[in-house]
Amino acid sequence: MISMERDEDDIIMIDTDVIEGPKLETERLILKSMSLADVDFLLYHFGAEETNWYTEYERLKNREEAIDFYYKFIEPGKKTYFRLVITLKKNDTLIGTIGFFLYNRRDSSAEIGYDLSRLYWRKGITTEAVKCLVNYGFEQMNLYRIEVTADPENIGSIKILKNLAFKKEGQLKEKHYYMEKYHDESIYSLLQRDWEKVKSIYQV
Ligand SMILES: CC(C)(COP(=O)(O)OP(=O)(O)OC[C@H]1O[C@@H](n2cnc3c(N)ncnc32)[C@H](O)[C@@H]1OP(=O)(O)O)[C@@H](O)C(=O)NCCC(=O)NCCS
Repeated sequence: MISMERDEDDIIMIDTDVIEGPKLETERLILKSMSLADVDFLLYHFGAEETNWYTEYERLKNREEAIDFYYKFIEPGKKTYFRLVITLKKNDTLIGTIGFFLYNRRDSSAEIGYDLSRLYWRKGITTEAVKCLVNYGFEQMNLYRIEVTADPENIGSIKILKNLAFKKEGQLKEKHYYMEKYHDESIYSLLQRDWEKVKSIYQV
């Protein structure tokens, strides 16, 4: 008899070989693997309330929490495939993070997550970083499908996805509790064949 008991890991087919991420470059940015030396940045970045708006992350309060958080990002067996720090090319300043998680090898799909420190918002930086990671996902990882989930109230994130030809597939009602209320979660996706058609907007 086939057992229908499956744990969360089975259902989402998490790839347990968390890899060291690639080093990627765009016009203004370098995206590179996170290291323990970045823990102070993580504390500053995820310690700021606004970085955690519209995310399920808990605001980091001290260095110990930042170290735990770092290991959650990189530890094999967790949901992360790789998480990179976003740095400004001109002065090597750390300004955010971006990466793939819930990588599903069988289906060639993965989800992207990203966050930027407030000082750098609305300069097109996350758009630039997302383009770069999507290109990497389709070209180097040979992904078939990339997903992003976002709070429909997160105007900046939704705009990035629309600008980059992600299609909205649905909205889960009151899926997450944060910022003292329940929030819907919208699911967006981009298939490799659709990315091929809009490659001109994916120049970085
Ligand atoms: C959401 C977030 C990633 C946006 O990053 P960003 O670098 O400011 O985004 P971009 O500059 O690439 O903006 C893309 C577009 O959205 C617009 N935009 C960005 N933030 C906006 C906001 N708060 N309100 C309205 N428009 C916004 C930009 O003006 C730009 O518009 P344009 O296409 O007309 O030029 C950033 O605010 C952030 O890190 N927030 C906290 C963490 C988070 O929400 N992560 C995403 C979870 S899904």
